[in-house]
Amino acid sequence: MLRAPRGTNDILPPESHKWAYIEALLRRLSKIYNFEEIRTPMFEHTELFARAVGEATDIVRKEMYTFKDKGGRDLTLRPEGTAPVARAFLERGLAGGPLPRKLFYLGSMFRYEKPQAGRYREFVQYGVEILGSPSAYSDAEVILLGVRIAEELGLTGTTLYINTIGCPECRKAYREDFLKHVSDRAGELCQDCRERLEVNPLRILDCKNQGCREAVADVPLMQDHLCDDCRRHWAALQEILTSLGIEYAVDPTLVRGLDYYTKTVFELKWPPLGAQDTVIAGGRYDGLVEELGGKPCPGVGFAAGVERLILAAEKGERPLMPEVSIDCFVLFPDSEDRRIPEAGFKLLVDLRRAGISGDFDALGRSVKAQMKHADRLNARYVAILGEEEVRQGLVTIRSMEHGWQKQVPTGQVVDFLKEEVSGGSS
Ligand code: HAM
Repeated sequence: MLRAPRGTNDILPPESHKWAYIEALLRRLSKIYNFEEIRTPMFEHTELFARAVGEATDIVRKEMYTFKDKGGRDLTLRPEGTAPVARAFLERGLAGGPLPRKLFYLGSMFRYEKPQAGRYREFVQYGVEILGSPSAYSDAEVILLGVRIAEELGLTGTTLYINTIGCPECRKAYREDFLKHVSDRAGELCQDCRERLEVNPLRILDCKNQGCREAVADVPLMQDHLCDDCRRHWAALQEILTSLGIEYAVDPTLVRGLDYYTKTVFELKWPPLGAQDTVIAGGRYDGLVEELGGKPCPGVGFAAGVERLILAAEKGERPLMPEVSIDCFVLFPDSEDRRIPEAGFKLLVDLRRAGISGDFDALGRSVKAQMKHADRLNARYVAILGEEEVRQGLVTIRSMEHGWQKQVPTGQVVDFLKEEVSGGSS
């Protein structure tokens, strides 16, 4: 038997109903916050991610699905959405239009990571980006949307972690100071962090390894090395969050795994998820558009892993249980007298034309088995066309919710059910 590639998911019903429910929720919240949808290609030139996410990051070094197409182009399945959005923003002339531009996306991302609960090789991100605003209110706006998503899903006990990683100017000085402290203790670092020391030293801050944690326990903090502009921005964001009563924790070790970040970084965690408990993560990237060849243009955003949102909601206080039902099951015996199935199938066709969802039994099962099938489909009504009904030009309508049965002339069934399903008599 052929199997799906490791780290991918088939989303089957009823799971797919939860996806539709959550996607609708995310689209509704996007509208409330005035983000418009953008759809970018699933693959991009590899150079985009190398430049935007950074050559030294784990994503670019180890996790990308990179391939050459038949024309010899170096392409990569997108591992994240911010770089493609910034690329499209520049390439399609949005940068020259009214700013700020607020965009959201919902789509598959690909990373060659070790699969585990909440971590996949193909996963879906919902992300938002505000391009063209340097304001700390824009940072607050995306953070508030992130917090709102968690609230709407009934997740209690989330923690919002925030930090600032400054701008390239203040980070340069900080990096030197940091290296001075950590180089002396290089022997205590794990193999990965010894490599990071060379290429991406600040990432050592968020290594989970005990030795590495101890090695960086007393390093100087970025917050103490900020330039005036970064300090003002950092203070402004905290004031806004505090004034709104949004609880947050400052985590000086939060550095994030993508190179484009400047100033604010944040993560929303929900511990019951276990090892992969970050549901939403993002930050500011004021240098990204310029890095991709545009004029300087600030940006801020986040992405949420939709699988993690669903896992969390399932474990939370308000499990996602969208009701799955059909309006009407049309029940008719598979009679020798073809007029009966023909009348039944025609009624189903007419109901669907009128916008009433419906189904029937295509396997010619007994009336009892069909009733059971209708129940399993969670049909609100069953329209029964037996020999007697067809002879009399009637249809028996049964309300599965209320248990009543009524006989309705065939020609009036569509109108009768239309009235019923839109909340008519009972
Ligand atoms: P990220 O932290 O790499 O940031 O990913 C954001 C979120 O995507 C994670 O917190 C997690 O919920 C989900 N995620 C990441 N990797 C996986 C995986 N392998 N399996 C399942 N879910 C995963 C970014 O991607 C940035 N582009 C976010 C951003 C937008 N920053 C500014 N704007």
